[in-house]
Amino acid sequence: MRHYLQFSDFTLEEYQYLFERTAKLKARLKSGALYQPLPGKVLGMIFEKSSTRTRVSFEAGMFQLGGHAMFLQSKDTQLGRGEPIEDVAKVMSRMVDIVMVRTFEQSIIERFAENSLVPVINGLTNEYHPCQIMADIFTYIEHHGSIEGKTVCWIGDSNNISRTWLQAAKIFNFKLNLACPRGYEMTVLDGQTYGSDVFETFNDPYQAARDADIVTTDVCTSMGYERETLQRKKDFINYKVSEKLMLQAKANALFMHCLPAHRGEEVDPEVIDGPQSVVWQEAENRMHTQKAVIEYLMLGRLDD
Ligand code: CP
Ligand code: NVA
Repeated sequence: MRHYLQFSDFTLEEYQYLFERTAKLKARLKSGALYQPLPGKVLGMIFEKSSTRTRVSFEAGMFQLGGHAMFLQSKDTQLGRGEPIEDVAKVMSRMVDIVMVRTFEQSIIERFAENSLVPVINGLTNEYHPCQIMADIFTYIEHHGSIEGKTVCWIGDSNNISRTWLQAAKIFNFKLNLACPRGYEMTVLDGQTYGSDVFETFNDPYQAARDADIVTTDVCTSMGYERETLQRKKDFINYKVSEKLMLQAKANALFMHCLPAHRGEEVDPEVIDGPQSVVWQEAENRMHTQKAVIEYLMLGRLDD
């Protein structure tokens, strides 16, 4: 049994299979054909944080595959009243066939997985968001082909999204230019884990964006860090993706954002709503890529 708890849980070869499969599943859905390999199967979803895309993409995707998805908010379950995560895993995994968890520390989903009888997928933790970056890379491939050797420019803090880009850079062999405000950089440990050949840090976002193939950013304040909101607004003031910043990147560069976005804060409306933005396609691709992951974890490789 396999879990998908962080981006590095799959190899390059597995991602190549999963992207081929995603393209097939997407085309099949668009053609109107029914494809339901998981009748009677249930996906349990635990949300300890808010969500629009993750909930809708997993729920719609599981339904399309012929199964059912169960939405559980921790505040409405005994988890919110202190039931140990290990006990929740033991109980849920006796009744459902696969689980998605959105929670705080990565250690929580790891403890869940250690006690689960069924595969577990990370739907975002403080440390990682593997499903998001999988959809982002698939989106890049749809536009421009292989991401190998390309440059991704990240404007923002060291968070779940940028740390997952870092894992992806190592696997897919692309370069990551990080422009993080002072005090919000990758840790020395991240550098040691992923290697200095994979990423370069910049104080100046304009330098980081130079000749980039993708420019991407995220909210200044991630979920769980709300008490830092005011301070972060001040600290991130020079780290915004503007039209001027996009001019530093390649002419065919794509703008990506995991969403939700705050126009005027981390990105200007002219960029996110402009011609280089692929944010809606990224969001849609969450569903198609996750369907390939669910199918792979539950049924293995398929060639139909
Ligand atoms: N990008 C993303 O995970 O969005 P949600 O928080 O809406 O699920
Ligand atoms: N970094 C953001 C991503 C939201 C999808 C957060 O964790 O809130």
